[in-house]
Amino acid sequence: MKLQILTTLIPALVPLIHAAPARRDTENPGLRGSESLLGYSSSNKGGGSSPPDIKYTLLPGQKEDPKIGSYLDFEKADNPQPIRGSTGSDDPGPRNYNYDRINSDKLAPPGTDHGQTINAQWPMGKFDYLVGESQLGQDGAGWARQENVNVMPDATLMAGVDMRLEPAGYRELHWHVAAEWSLVLNGSCRIQAVNENGETFIDDVVAGDVWFFPPGIPHSIQALDDGVEFLLVFDDGDFSEDNTFLASEVFLHTPKEVLSKNFGLDVSAFDKIPEDELYIFKGTPAPADIEKQNVKTSAGLVPRTESYSYHFSEQPAHEVAGGSVKIVDPLTFPIASNFSAAVVTVHPGGMREVHWHPTSDEWTFFISGQGRATLFTAPNAATTFDYRGGDVGYFPKSNSHYIENTGDEDLVFVEVLQAPSFTDMSLGQWIGSTPKQIIADTLNLSNDTLSKLKPEKQYVVAGKST
Ligand SMILES: *[C@@H]1O[C@H](CO)[C@@H](O)[C@H](O)[C@H]1NC(C)=O
Ligand SMILES: *[C@@H]1O[C@H](CO)[C@@H](O)[C@H](O)[C@H]1NC(C)=O
Ligand SMILES: *[C@@H]1O[C@H](CO)[C@@H](O)[C@H](O)[C@H]1NC(C)=O
Ligand SMILES: *[C@@H]1O[C@H](CO)[C@@H](O)[C@H](O)[C@H]1NC(C)=O
Repeated sequence: MKLQILTTLIPALVPLIHAAPARRDTENPGLRGSESLLGYSSSNKGGGSSPPDIKYTLLPGQKEDPKIGSYLDFEKADNPQPIRGSTGSDDPGPRNYNYDRINSDKLAPPGTDHGQTINAQWPMGKFDYLVGESQLGQDGAGWARQENVNVMPDATLMAGVDMRLEPAGYRELHWHVAAEWSLVLNGSCRIQAVNENGETFIDDVVAGDVWFFPPGIPHSIQALDDGVEFLLVFDDGDFSEDNTFLASEVFLHTPKEVLSKNFGLDVSAFDKIPEDELYIFKGTPAPADIEKQNVKTSAGLVPRTESYSYHFSEQPAHEVAGGSVKIVDPLTFPIASNFSAAVVTVHPGGMREVHWHPTSDEWTFFISGQGRATLFTAPNAATTFDYRGGDVGYFPKSNSHYIENTGDEDLVFVEVLQAPSFTDMSLGQWIGSTPKQIIADTLNLSNDTLSKLKPEKQYVVAGKST
């Protein structure tokens, strides 16, 4: 009703407002200044004083040629300044020192950065936690935070959610339009599903394990005794946790007469169903013996070759010079038809080598440590981003990038692709496997340098810790 009155009044008022001459606020004269302050006034007192005296100490790498672009650890710097070599100048503010200290490559970008790329960094910490409602006065049961195109508009192929469930906490029975791939980050949980043939699935997964639920397959997740935190990746940048099909909601929005007919039960059987969604909530603890929850029907179990889980935590990592890599993709986990991932560990000083993914964008989640990456986009745009545990990175198909450890502990992250197998193009391997004459003609490298190029893919190279 109110809305109607407003919409009919506003059109009538608009011409009046525009026609009315500007009037002084006679009730509060102190709110505005006098007309004598308009431009060209004799009261203009600009200039005449000396520039502010800003005290700071430059870091050693800050005086180098900007094209060397070493990482500058501003967290430990005294009053960090946007200076590289002879470029940039000091900044008296306004500025957010907390932000500047953890985004060194924004404050003083390497001299090789140029133009504008997409934004390839977003901290989950900037998302309002979706908190699980407590039921019947219980304590909170967990939380979730998410990344999608609302916050990273160019990350269209995938979106992600970081979720925590307290012991016995549930992610309510649900399904969604997107496919869901998950990496358990901490603790353990029991996952359960029924497929379109009525075949049943139940399994316990621990930190480092992976699961996958195809579009439309209803499933639930319940934390075991130690609680659980997991990462979810969806094959749709538009995905939102707010748009999943929940068991509670499908019951709430189906006429009770229909529910009664559907299940062959009296209407009163549904008298006490929840009056609102449950989403994240505490339940009774799952029985320790998983066999007690193994529902056996005439349809049987989901065949092992179509298992929704992969015990990736038990797969040893492939050790390389600067760290380690392990891959899980449909070659070994077939149900996850288009999800290919690598969990990468980079030791201090090391670096995930410069590479790109020929067939897919890369969605990255930083699990621990800190690092930086430069996204290079044709023809000549390059931006360097800094990352910490809990941040999301995004590197479009065929756009080259590296990930360098900038801290003093291991950097761990997961690269997720939409591809039937995990593939990457290594800059080093390409250059090292191309006829030397072509490389010499193109890059003007010395014969000595040419002789040292390696034809092998390195994945993670070692380096000196800063
Ligand atoms: C889970 O987090 C706790 C608290 O930080 C830590 O002590 C524990 O080692 C983690 N577990 C795993 C498997 O990462
Ligand atoms: C797999 O992902 C790619 C994008 O990288 C997409 O073009 C393709 O359609 C997807 N394939 C399937 C079977 O979903
Ligand atoms: C290659 O480098 C040498 C110096 O090492 C320089 O004299 C020469 O002009 C360069 N050639 C090209 C094509 O840039
Ligand atoms: C580099 O190697 C090429 C091919 O072996 C040779 O022709 C050229 O003279 C060498 N250049 C130098 C500076 O030694």
